Amino acid sequence: MGIKKVDSIWLDGKLVAWDDATDHMLAHTMHYGVGAFEGIRAYQRADGRTAVFRLREHIDRLFDSSAICTMDVPFTRDQVIAGCAEVLRANKMAFAYLRPLIYLGSGALGLGSFEPPVRTMIAAFEWGAYLGDDGLKKGIRCMIGGFTRANGNAVMNKGKICGQYVTSVLAKRMALKSGFDEALMLDPQGYVAEGTGENIFVVKGGVVRTPPTSAAILAGITRDTAIQLLRERGVEVREEMIARDELYTADEVFLTGTAAEITPVREIDHRKIGRGEWPITFGVQDAFFQIVKGSDAKHDHWLHFV
Ligand SMILES: Cc1ncc(COP(=O)(O)O)c(C=O)c1O
Repeated sequence: MGIKKVDSIWLDGKLVAWDDATDHMLAHTMHYGVGAFEGIRAYQRADGRTAVFRLREHIDRLFDSSAICTMDVPFTRDQVIAGCAEVLRANKMAFAYLRPLIYLGSGALGLGSFEPPVRTMIAAFEWGAYLGDDGLKKGIRCMIGGFTRANGNAVMNKGKICGQYVTSVLAKRMALKSGFDEALMLDPQGYVAEGTGENIFVVKGGVVRTPPTSAAILAGITRDTAIQLLRERGVEVREEMIARDELYTADEVFLTGTAAEITPVREIDHRKIGRGEWPITFGVQDAFFQIVKGSDAKHDHWLHFV
């Protein structure tokens, strides 16, 4: 799915024309992957207003990821939040996927050099349902990917860091080439970790489980949203490790993520999941869409109106 060009991109505090938002071939991040990014969605609600979902939490995570990368962001959190709103307004977008990126520009290529400038970019563009509209309604097909989510001494799992996405990209490409929609990643002990760009939930006997944030996963903001919405609906949610074969015997499995939203999984490794019905998944998916696209006002504290 190609990116549809819009007018401008926010770069280092200013709006610049889309085609001028470029960098040098020797930008440090392009070579070594030390950079932090976010994926954020702005939705148009039933009343026509545009709202960015859990913007502050995303920007907090962006700053956490930057700190992990030893990058001092040359803007405040509030300035980056304002930049997200500005780029939406400048491009007259009622809904969009927002991609902020903090990265190291050009000037030196030594691994440990602190010379390259820390640059800040925010782009907005249209991005439909990441795992397909059909996927949202009918569920997707997954395989267990061949790459492991590494332990915390090899990979900074709590950061959304550019170079760490190599195994996600390779696992996802392998899944697509093999005829699946998504790859699921295990941790070094063989426990279920997450999708290549999503967190995972498993339902059995009415109880929902998801790996804890101490596992080798990104602490997803949609994951946290789903947990809160499920608990509000009286569903028991446990944060605990999940064995690979518990996926195969689950009643329901679903993935959460800003891009993927809340997507049911209908098949894993050629095994059909449950009875192909997702009462709990669709309950939480509906609650989520009511907040971001509908008129549920109880969760307005999660919305940043633009
Ligand atoms: C590896 C990984 N896990 C989980 C998620 C889901 O996180 P969130 O719900 O904050 O988008 C993402 C997406 O950002 C991701 O890249």
